[in-house]
Amino acid sequence: MRKFEQFRSIVAASATAAFLALPLPLDAQGTRESPLSSARASQFADSVLRLMTLEEKLGQLNQLPGGGQQISANDRQALRAGRVGSFLNVFGADFTRELQRIAVTETRLKIPLLFAHDVIHGFRTIFPVPLAEAASFDSARAEFSARQSAIEATAHGLMWTFAPMVDIARDPRWGRIVEGAGEDPYLGTVMSAARVRGFQGGDNAVGLGAPDAMLATVKHFAAYGAAEGGRDYNTVELSERTLWETYMPPYEAAIRAGVATVMASFNEIGGTPSHASDWLLGDVLRKRWGFNGLVVSDWGAISELVPHHVADGLGEAGILGLRAGVDFDMSDHVYVDSMAVAANAGRVPVALIDSAVKHVLRVKYLLGLFTDPYKFSDAGREKLYTLAPGHLGAARVAAREGIVLLKNSNKTLPLRRDLRSIALIGPLANDSASSMGSWAADGHASEASTVLAGIRAALGSSTRIISARGAPVDTVDTTGFAQARSAASEADAVVLVIGERADMSGEASSRASIELPGAQRDLALAVIRAARASPGGDTKPVVVVLMNGRPLTIPELAASAPAILETWFLGTEHGLAVADVLFGDYNPGGKLPVTFPRATGQIPIYYNHRNTGRPADSANHYTSKYLDLPWTPLFPFGYGLSYTTFAYSNLRLSSSTIRTGDSVTVSVEVRNTGDRTGDEVVQLYTRDNVASVEEPIKELKGARRVTLQPGETRTVTFKLDPDAFALYDRDMRRVIEPGTFTIFAGTNSDDVTSVPLQVTGDTLVLAPSTPRMR
Ligand code: NOJ
Repeated sequence: MRKFEQFRSIVAASATAAFLALPLPLDAQGTRESPLSSARASQFADSVLRLMTLEEKLGQLNQLPGGGQQISANDRQALRAGRVGSFLNVFGADFTRELQRIAVTETRLKIPLLFAHDVIHGFRTIFPVPLAEAASFDSARAEFSARQSAIEATAHGLMWTFAPMVDIARDPRWGRIVEGAGEDPYLGTVMSAARVRGFQGGDNAVGLGAPDAMLATVKHFAAYGAAEGGRDYNTVELSERTLWETYMPPYEAAIRAGVATVMASFNEIGGTPSHASDWLLGDVLRKRWGFNGLVVSDWGAISELVPHHVADGLGEAGILGLRAGVDFDMSDHVYVDSMAVAANAGRVPVALIDSAVKHVLRVKYLLGLFTDPYKFSDAGREKLYTLAPGHLGAARVAAREGIVLLKNSNKTLPLRRDLRSIALIGPLANDSASSMGSWAADGHASEASTVLAGIRAALGSSTRIISARGAPVDTVDTTGFAQARSAASEADAVVLVIGERADMSGEASSRASIELPGAQRDLALAVIRAARASPGGDTKPVVVVLMNGRPLTIPELAASAPAILETWFLGTEHGLAVADVLFGDYNPGGKLPVTFPRATGQIPIYYNHRNTGRPADSANHYTSKYLDLPWTPLFPFGYGLSYTTFAYSNLRLSSSTIRTGDSVTVSVEVRNTGDRTGDEVVQLYTRDNVASVEEPIKELKGARRVTLQPGETRTVTFKLDPDAFALYDRDMRRVIEPGTFTIFAGTNSDDVTSVPLQVTGDTLVLAPSTPRMR
């Protein structure tokens, strides 16, 4: 049956003439126009809207949770009654097909369902957690991982992911830092746009409609990562300037990349919760940024307007949500249960409900669901793509790229392969659930490799692995120390796998202190001492492999461990990728996407801070510092070593003077001065030396990961477009002011060379004032 005929037969039972006079669905249109602003999609949505009762409209705004391959009997009943527009957390080709069949054959209007899930860093093949992915500084890789995740997830019937999460996080106590790209707005924007393209199958939403592309969701709008004290769900206290300079850019980048849906955030800003903020969802999102897609609530967040104390009951919460512009109600039942009464009493205009329903119908239309509601529920594709060799291979490449070498004294790494024995110590050495990290979708721990499995696979049976857990992850228990010490004394080399379990970061997993939990720091120090004291201990390699979803404070390890690898949670291929690095099959080249403090008390600490009137100066008591800690971080943003070394030279500009509104090209030569092929992330920063408002001391404006052979020199070139020199002035206009800038290039945010740039001419206004917060 041709697609269009098939669609007609689906709707025939209830359709009116208006309903049938439909334009061709988007995937048959062959257009490059963004589907999100398609007039055809709007006409289509209007034609369906005209047929709907108020109850059916509210049903379309209702998203209910399931659990894998099941939903409750009540929810099945609600589906038949036309009271469900979408399910989240259900998947599987057969199961989604069964539910979709009910929607398109048993409901009055036969409107297809959306199936959504948190496909954050993979569906069944799990890729590195987003923080690790950001550490690769490789946006093409991030796009590819998202693409493959979408291919796998859509084959299981899903067509909507709640990713990318792009919340900037300057406080590593916040557990959800693991889900984002770290502290920097530039890296955040690049990763945000790349991941949207990956999930949606291209730029500007033009890929949507293909059976392997899914709706992406940029979240959590806005500034959810600025939770006070790093405590999840907490109040956000932020100046408008910092909101726009630091937190907004990654959301805006997703909108520019054509993201189809936006999720509002749990938090409030300035006293207004996002789910009640018509400033945020209206003035900023729809008006300033021209967003045409769908806004979804976070889980239960409409009803949370009651504990936020801005609504005196669920009815009022729903009205506030609709008025603010929250289209879809995730698992709250507020719209479906309470808004008919509110509308009938004239407390909420039906036009607002209509507008929300239109947004839902438009995305269903642009996915092509009215043409073929079963296109994502394909058992054949499900079988073909689940854990496909190509996906696993790509996950391993992505995993290697995310690893950051923090220390490598005396070339401790890579390890020799002909070791007679390795002591593998630590509670995470064989924890496959932690390999995957939080939000592992349908990932199965049994399919994820651990460091133990990776080392076993890398080495033949002639190397003995002496395993010792040493200590639990998060309780202070030292009874295993003796065994760990003796393993360290006995073996030729020591690999310590320590850090956090996967469930110690992620949602609702904030920590008040970001030290190594439990007795692990003492375990590591005891093991290092035992290895040193053993025969041949002076040269015995001891490597700390960290697994964690946030920066950890590890000053003692940084001082005494010979080598430290930051491996985060790398997904299904975690252990294999770590072994690739341990034995030199891969030379690590990742860089920190977030500053590592020396102690929790330094938080917030980030590289792109303002200078203050009294910048820290050890010679001057009355400057901005601590009595009991240095002011500098343990490892700066952008930091990471390699098994080879790189030298920077000849940083130059295409012109040392430009006019406001001009671009400039920056080039720098990077040479591999060591004896191994390696990756370097070349970083470009700018500083506005004198401006009408105080600007950060340094801001990342470009980063490029390059692979250099030993002795090879590469000229790396960046084009700085006018916006790279822009700031928000005192009136919150985006402007470029004349003056001097410093352009820096280097291997991390601290270790840079610089050249001056003169910008002349009049102040140029790039954009009018941001809509004032209300
Ligand atoms: C709550 C989380 O904040 C959000 O990120 C997630 O997408 C939803 N739950 C759905 O699982």
